[in-house]
Amino acid sequence: MVFCRWVSLIFLLHLFGALPTLSNSSLTTKELADIPVNFLTDAKRPELVDWMVGIRRKIHENPELGYEEFETSKLIRDELDKMGIPYKYPVAVTGIIGYIGTGGPPFVAIRADMDALAMQESVEWEHKSKVPGKMHACGHDAHVAMLLGAAKILQEYRDNLQGTVVLFFQPAEEGGGGAQNMIEAGALQNVDVIFGLHVSTDLPIGSVASRPGPTMAGSGFFEAVISGKGGHAAIPQHTIDPILAASNVIVSLQHLVSREADPLDSQVVTVAKFQGGGAFNVIPDAVTIGGTFRAFSKESFTQLRQRIEEVITGQAAVQRCSASVDFLTDTKPFFPVTVNSKDLHEYFQNVAGDMLGVHNLKVMPPLMGSEDFAFFSEVIPGYFFFLGMKNESSGSLGHPHSPYFRINEDALPYGAALHASLATRYLVEHQPKSQLAEGKVHDEL
Ligand SMILES: *[C@@H]1O[C@H](CO)[C@@H](O)[C@H](O)[C@H]1NC(C)=O
Repeated sequence: MVFCRWVSLIFLLHLFGALPTLSNSSLTTKELADIPVNFLTDAKRPELVDWMVGIRRKIHENPELGYEEFETSKLIRDELDKMGIPYKYPVAVTGIIGYIGTGGPPFVAIRADMDALAMQESVEWEHKSKVPGKMHACGHDAHVAMLLGAAKILQEYRDNLQGTVVLFFQPAEEGGGGAQNMIEAGALQNVDVIFGLHVSTDLPIGSVASRPGPTMAGSGFFEAVISGKGGHAAIPQHTIDPILAASNVIVSLQHLVSREADPLDSQVVTVAKFQGGGAFNVIPDAVTIGGTFRAFSKESFTQLRQRIEEVITGQAAVQRCSASVDFLTDTKPFFPVTVNSKDLHEYFQNVAGDMLGVHNLKVMPPLMGSEDFAFFSEVIPGYFFFLGMKNESSGSLGHPHSPYFRINEDALPYGAALHASLATRYLVEHQPKSQLAEGKVHDEL
């Protein structure tokens, strides 16, 4: 790991000379409520908006897939260097962890993901992806720009921070387990809580949506090879037909959710891949099927995983076939359920409500989609929310993972201001009492 010791030294010296003197009790309710409002005003300054838009477009033009975000990571580090923000790099190949504030507790993390998708952009515009077959179609380019925007606001405000804001720029959100690798690299050491956001094309701009508790599903993938014995399609008695066996396997898999799961406990098993055979008159030796499964509790997820394997091998055996099942966890780790801390939900509603007005806070139903953020919130209290981008005047924004997906860049200041406010006010409200009394500063960076 490379650590910017030089920058960090200057930074710490600076802070020792400028210890925050505010204590929790010295801030009135009004002053606390003003933090989000002031940060939104800050984030909407034209020069800050232009800067975020520029970064977002640069990243959009050069999308990079999971663990290949080298240019994106370089761009982020260049900006952090210019701002004088120290960081650790590399964390999990291309990831970066930046630090703003006292260098001591509390530590609150705010997170953005950096990777793009392997798909061709169909939106014709000046800053269209310049890399064939790769596109930022999930908004991670905007997420990075928002987190850098927050960093800029926080760095201007750093002498008033009452603890440390930790910036997570993570690789490989799209199925690669980037968060898990960052955790294995020690990213969550000392970190008290973490916040993350995702842009939404359905929510109006200036509004947010979230919920306490299980928010997004845990997910896994599976692939199975069902093997029989190929032969002439007109002489089936000399073959063992894997196509029929695979068909029965798929039908039986559908009974897991309909017959074995509690109807009130949402689950999905989908077979999305069925490959085998290539001629009209030949029964193939083997068929490959694959798919995904989702659930909202660890127990349901574990149960599904076990039963998927049993049903595939058992049902294949009924038709004299053999089957091997692979859950592909080397390249596609199981995603835990994304669970939002109930305490942080209340906290989020206060902060976002002060910034956007309570009428712009929506409580959403759980989503069957999965989010790599879940790895973080499995280890420490976390909170994940959706940020609106829809504005009637900006036309259709398409849908995430669609080649027509677009970002409404007017949403960038909202994301930046929410990140900055959530972090700042958390520090104010969670001062470690003994340290405040002794006026100590830790150098735990
Ligand atoms: C929505 O679009 C209109 C027209 O471009 C603009 O005036 C307005 O500020 C936008 N709303 C937000 C919240 O950005």
